[in-house]
Amino acid sequence: MPRDLTSFVKEDALSDMSPLGRSEQHQDQQPTQQDPPGSQDEPPMMFRDSIQAKGNQERDELHPYTQTLTLSDVDSCVILEEAAFPPHERATKEKFRYRLGKCSELSLGIFTSHEGTDIPTAATSQPVYSGAPHRKAVLLGHIVATKTTNAIVSDSDMALPSDDPANPALGNKQEGRTVAIHSLAVLPQFQRKGLGSTLLKAYLDRLAKQDVADRAALIAHEDMIPYYEKFGFKNRGKSAAQFGGGGWFDMVKEVTLEDEGDGLIWSRR
Ligand SMILES: CC(C)(COP(=O)(O)OP(=O)(O)OC[C@H]1O[C@@H](n2cnc3c(N)ncnc32)[C@H](O)[C@@H]1OP(=O)(O)O)[C@@H](O)C(=O)NCCC(=O)NCCS
Repeated sequence: MPRDLTSFVKEDALSDMSPLGRSEQHQDQQPTQQDPPGSQDEPPMMFRDSIQAKGNQERDELHPYTQTLTLSDVDSCVILEEAAFPPHERATKEKFRYRLGKCSELSLGIFTSHEGTDIPTAATSQPVYSGAPHRKAVLLGHIVATKTTNAIVSDSDMALPSDDPANPALGNKQEGRTVAIHSLAVLPQFQRKGLGSTLLKAYLDRLAKQDVADRAALIAHEDMIPYYEKFGFKNRGKSAAQFGGGGWFDMVKEVTLEDEGDGLIWSRR
């Protein structure tokens, strides 16, 4: 049985998350080497973070942890996306393949090692460690992104280069300093338990620590604006994006490093 989350709480809070990406460790940064609860017989996994925030019992009982997504998670992402979004707002499997293939390091999943048969992503879950194939990482929520040279998310950023090979503006722009978040979703039966907030906070903390971008941007429906504002996103008004029928608002969060007196802390505005 997984250990209780409280025995897993690190002294540092979520601000000590390991860097983005499974393979892009900073040489001068000590990676978090905690495994998810129940994985004591596994070797240290440098890309995985236990959730250290507490306060939501239903969420904590899942012993969730975050880790970057890879192409092996595509099927789970597709199931999750189909469960969370109406058909016209879903990213396709092709898009997940493209985005995780290009920018795995800009993604983050929130997982549980519980394997309830009622969890739709259990069927496509991956072993957490090849030495313990019975232990599965079951995806509960995901954030998937690419980079753009725009300051907001446009339809071009959301498109695939293969949609129009003659248009160089489509898809990921590695040199961009804006992270375009395309999907934030939690499986419906696990929504409103704090998982989405935990995932988004962990993601934004990682972005700031890695200095991979100057800002994070996304498009949101009006009812979600207050949610994103809680994380420091600013409403930049109605979006020109017509994806999924339009009606979106541009939400942008500048990501900066600030010294607030008691050492460097990462500030997300
Ligand atoms: C948005 C989402 C990722 C949030 O994850 P979550 O785990 O449910 O969120 P949390 O439990 O951390 O926070 C819950 C808060 O999210 C906000 N929220 C969630 N869904 C909302 C909705 N449909 N409309 C408005 N606010 C919503 C509310 O502020 C809510 O607080 P409340 O329960 O006190 O009302 C999740 O609800 C989801 O996957 N929704 C469907 C997909 C989606 O709309 N994604 C966002 C695209 S912009």
